[in-house]
Amino acid sequence: MTKRFKFNTIALFTRNNRPIVDFYTKVLGFTTDWDGVQPNVEMVLDGMRILLFPRAEFEKMVSKSFTYPETINGTMEISLDVPCFSDVDKEFNNAVTKGAEPVLDPTTEPWGQRTCYISDPDGNLIEISSFNKCSRSIETERLILRPWLESDAGSLFKYASDPDVGPRAGWPPHISIEESLETIRSIFSGEGMWAVELKESGESIGCVGYLPASLSNLDIQENQCEVGYWIAKPYWGKGICTEAMSAIVDYCFNVKGFSVLWGNYFPENPASGRVMEKCGFVDTGKQVVCPNLEIGYDKPVKIMRLENFIVQ
Ligand SMILES: CC(C)(COP(=O)(O)OP(=O)(O)OC[C@H]1O[C@@H](n2cnc3c(N)ncnc32)[C@H](O)[C@@H]1OP(=O)(O)O)[C@@H](O)C(=O)NCCC(=O)NCCS
Repeated sequence: MTKRFKFNTIALFTRNNRPIVDFYTKVLGFTTDWDGVQPNVEMVLDGMRILLFPRAEFEKMVSKSFTYPETINGTMEISLDVPCFSDVDKEFNNAVTKGAEPVLDPTTEPWGQRTCYISDPDGNLIEISSFNKCSRSIETERLILRPWLESDAGSLFKYASDPDVGPRAGWPPHISIEESLETIRSIFSGEGMWAVELKESGESIGCVGYLPASLSNLDIQENQCEVGYWIAKPYWGKGICTEAMSAIVDYCFNVKGFSVLWGNYFPENPASGRVMEKCGFVDTGKQVVCPNLEIGYDKPVKIMRLENFIVQ
């Protein structure tokens, strides 16, 4: 049977297109090729499409005038889903920092949804929510891989200030606990980052994770990622990194569905190459420089590759 209607899109009638375009592009990440002049604007993000049209133009078009809500437009909302509860909080903080009007702080509702509300400059409500707790924690024999917590700042500083750790991975040793805390809040708050917690002591002793193509140091495709890791020096040589990375490899293939994982290491750091080998990576024989590294940006790294043969 032919479908009678197919949902098209949401269109917002604006006081003025410019602040609304700025809001949806800068705060929420939509893109547009609007020329700043045409009344019709199309903004897109991950298959979503929002159209804008100035209210004044619409009134001309229909030869009628209307009155509009002055503050919040409480008659409808744009509802955006995010993968996990923690993403609701992250996106809310991000949006408010970038100038969105907060309407409801992140809250877990009795029906199991974590939700929050912001509004755009015309007062249109935007809900950001998730029904999925999706704890990213992964348990292995000796380790719990879990999101970084601000309370890890002390142990992070203790181990990441060691000059034998960061430079081998391309970053300088931490110089203060404040720097470690800031790293937890920024770099380590990303979706693909885990603290390596030793079950025996409950202490975080390293970091493992992956960078999607958009953040990778390597020129890789959209459905691929780059893995990275470090372990505190007192724990080297006990198989801890291999144990943690094997779990991350499994997560990257079976949860995230990446088709290929890439890794890289400085030739003078063979322990890192060995970890990858033990996780199944193969030496591509290629070397490149990674100009984005803070340390060693002019030195070649060896490139390792692991394919998910199941999805090929
Ligand atoms: C690389 C690093 C993560 C390894 O962590 P780890 O927990 O000691 O790793 P594992 O114990 O799982 O495996 C290390 C392997 O390297 C081997 N190895 C250690 N030093 C080596 C060397 N100089 N040459 C060759 N192999 C070496 C170990 O023998 C072991 O292999 P094996 O099990 O076959 O004996 C850790 O040394 C580290 O954090 N280094 C600083 C940061 C870093 O280099 N990060 C990676 C950036 S690409």
